[in-house]
Amino acid sequence: MARNVVVTGAAGFIGSNFVRYWRATRPGDTIIAIDALTYAGNIKNLADVQDEIIFVHADITDERRMLDVLGCRPIDVVVNFAAESHNSLAVLEPSRFFGTNVLGTQVLLEVCRRVGVGRFHQVSTCEVYGDLALDAVEAFTEQSPYRPRTPYSASKAGADHAVRAYHNTYGIPVTISNCANNYGPYQFPEKVLPLFITNALSGRSLPMYASTRNRREWISVTDHCAAIALIIERGTPGETYHVGTGEEASVEEIADLVLGELGAPGALKTVVPDRPGHDRRYLLDHRRIERDLGWRPTTPLEEGVRETIRWYRDHRDWWEPLLTRRLITEETWFSTTRK
Ligand SMILES: NC(=O)c1ccc[n+]([C@@H]2O[C@H](COP(=O)([O-])OP(=O)(O)OC[C@H]3O[C@@H](n4cnc5c(N)ncnc54)[C@H](O)[C@@H]3O)[C@@H](O)[C@H]2O)c1
Repeated sequence: MARNVVVTGAAGFIGSNFVRYWRATRPGDTIIAIDALTYAGNIKNLADVQDEIIFVHADITDERRMLDVLGCRPIDVVVNFAAESHNSLAVLEPSRFFGTNVLGTQVLLEVCRRVGVGRFHQVSTCEVYGDLALDAVEAFTEQSPYRPRTPYSASKAGADHAVRAYHNTYGIPVTISNCANNYGPYQFPEKVLPLFITNALSGRSLPMYASTRNRREWISVTDHCAAIALIIERGTPGETYHVGTGEEASVEEIADLVLGELGAPGALKTVVPDRPGHDRRYLLDHRRIERDLGWRPTTPLEEGVRETIRWYRDHRDWWEPLLTRRLITEETWFSTTRK
């Protein structure tokens, strides 16, 4: 049966990829795409599907507006991607992160409580668990305690707590996914991979934090979208699922991949001071989603990253106009916080 699916943060990186993924794999459903179009949101990310979805320009912290949008038709699914998502910006402007990520999520939950929804899915991050030592042998499990270390990860942790509270207190059928670092097309050129690619394509330096051995677990955005769709349809309400790959790479290894694929000189790599609270490493134990739902990542890291690099090389018209919208550059933010 055709469903009404609300996607918040739909004009962002993962949200827009998710809309495209859901559209292609579940064509009978109606997608209501909500986005406040902040500096990081871009309606052009939805250009190829805009005639097939309902787009609503609105802020998730606006309760009256959310009631209007979610109350005018029966809603089967709400997937919440809407967030302030850039860790470095959170160091400078923590309030906007707590406002959108915690209070915005709570407003959505409250509206879902009033109108009734089939499923509320919260898109969360590995960063809520804090960080791991570089030589740690363990990975974060769904039972690991939350130990966020930055305003961004603390605000995402607060949102997850609100989601669980609404499930336990009001019986809202929720699921949560905590995911590793995503890469793919349409990622705003402030995040490390598109920053490196667009800088290399412009002959500018690639700013690496001093802890160049710090590493991340990487996942293709399409694999992430497939996992979320599966959790929504087959996951157990009240449960949390980790979405990871086990494939790690340091920031310097990512820089080398970019330079190698584009034939750019190694001299473009530069070291900048570490961001305060810069996490060393995250790694998710994702055996639950494999075992319970049969999900597996399908894109090998190097292949997926190379494909992403080529997408940016071929889509200058998409990213060049965005450069002036960036609120922060990794070269300058450190001195800004120290003023
Ligand atoms: N990018 C990753 O690697 C990653 C990993 C794990 C989890 N996540 C989570 O996935 C979600 C999406 O991340 P992303 O990388 O696509 O971020 P993004 O910054 O590209 O997109 C966020 C979108 O939310 C919109 N938005 C912001 N505030 C809003 C508000 N108040 N009301 C409505 N819309 C608003 C923005 O306009 C933007 O379109 C976030 O919740 C993030 O925490 C991201």
